[in-house]
Amino acid sequence: MEDQRTIEPARRVFKTGVKIPGDKSLSHRALVFASLAEDESEITGLAPGLDVGTTAAALEQLGMRRTGDRFDPAERPSEPDGAVDCGNSGTTMRLLAGSLAAAPLRITLTGDDSLLSRPMERLVAPLGALGVDLMTQEDGTAPITTGRGSLIGTDVSIDVASAQVRTAFELAAIQATGTSAIDSPPGYRDHTERWLEAFGLGDAGEGTKMTVVPGRIPGARYDIPGDPSSAAYLWASAALVEGAHVVTPGISLNPGRLGFLTILEAMGATVHGEVTGSIHGDVVGTVAITGGQLRAVEVFGNTVAAAIDELPLVAVLGAYAEGVTIVREAGELRAKESDRIASTTEMIRALGGGAEPTEDGFAVIGTGFLDGGTVDGVGDHRIAMAAAVAATAANGPVTVLGASAANVSWPSFYQTLEAVWSSQ
Ligand code: S3P
Repeated sequence: MEDQRTIEPARRVFKTGVKIPGDKSLSHRALVFASLAEDESEITGLAPGLDVGTTAAALEQLGMRRTGDRFDPAERPSEPDGAVDCGNSGTTMRLLAGSLAAAPLRITLTGDDSLLSRPMERLVAPLGALGVDLMTQEDGTAPITTGRGSLIGTDVSIDVASAQVRTAFELAAIQATGTSAIDSPPGYRDHTERWLEAFGLGDAGEGTKMTVVPGRIPGARYDIPGDPSSAAYLWASAALVEGAHVVTPGISLNPGRLGFLTILEAMGATVHGEVTGSIHGDVVGTVAITGGQLRAVEVFGNTVAAAIDELPLVAVLGAYAEGVTIVREAGELRAKESDRIASTTEMIRALGGGAEPTEDGFAVIGTGFLDGGTVDGVGDHRIAMAAAVAATAANGPVTVLGASAANVSWPSFYQTLEAVWSSQ
């Protein structure tokens, strides 16, 4: 069967509540924390997509044992049979580069064609400062080789607001001798910092500098909240229909994940958020979105990092808004599962809208409508899913080529989207 899916426009003012699957970022972290823990951990609600399955499989290959929701760490990583496959997942590769840095053996991490083209040299300087001899290919890409490190605490500063790089450093630093610190520009998701602080392994302070003290992560229980980057597709869909209403309980409300909600509000959707709990110091709550008249927005500064995975959706909303939507200072989009400056603007054009790539972002001309059409998902889950959301209020159907890319983060995405549209 061909890997494509045609989505008919919603043509309805839908209203519903949806339970969103587990957060991908927190799922990767819970698994890696469990692999380093001194005792068994229990994880419920893991993200269902291929990426998190990849992290779990990699850690099991390295000796962690899983029985249902229970994860038993290996005393030390066991010698893998060849390179460890990180699939399509940058988070898997970067987090493992840090968590395995102090292992007494060399471990090679590889991945699919997309992952093998993404920048890994950004790990070299911060991990190198701890004493890790991380090897990348000559052009700074994967496969990378890590491990066999005797690590000494140090202070570093990085120039990208990358939660993955910060996390890699911090997971290595807890295994070092002596205290470490890392600083970066703001806007990153600080899940790791909050969990390490909750476990007595660091101090996140007030700003962007995280101090890390060496020690063992305790065995713990992780009930993973819903993924705001998945919920964002349903929020965006509701925002495209005046009066449509979607409620998502139990979502991670980490400040580094809230950029898209700020953008939705600025564009004219009604956003309601309520904190209902937390997981090891990381906030969880309910978000409700009601659609309204959309206006263009300009996205830059700290909001970029806090909405980085949702920027393709901003382009979709921009096409339906009044005015020109501009995203700038977002060169990081080129380092994702596809070059998302190119793939996002091509998606909008394929649907009959106007979009221009710029060096560090894009501009979308809001005409108030999209025709529909055929979009190549270019193997990028977030492009395939954003194209499906664009169908919400389109004049005709949207066909997504390579629709199964959604399996990376949300295997039942299309069914959920269509079920939401048929609610009232
Ligand atoms: C993630 C951080 C972000 C994000 C990615 C997941 C994480 O990447 O785009 O989808 O879980 O830490 P960077 O850290 O590279 O900005």
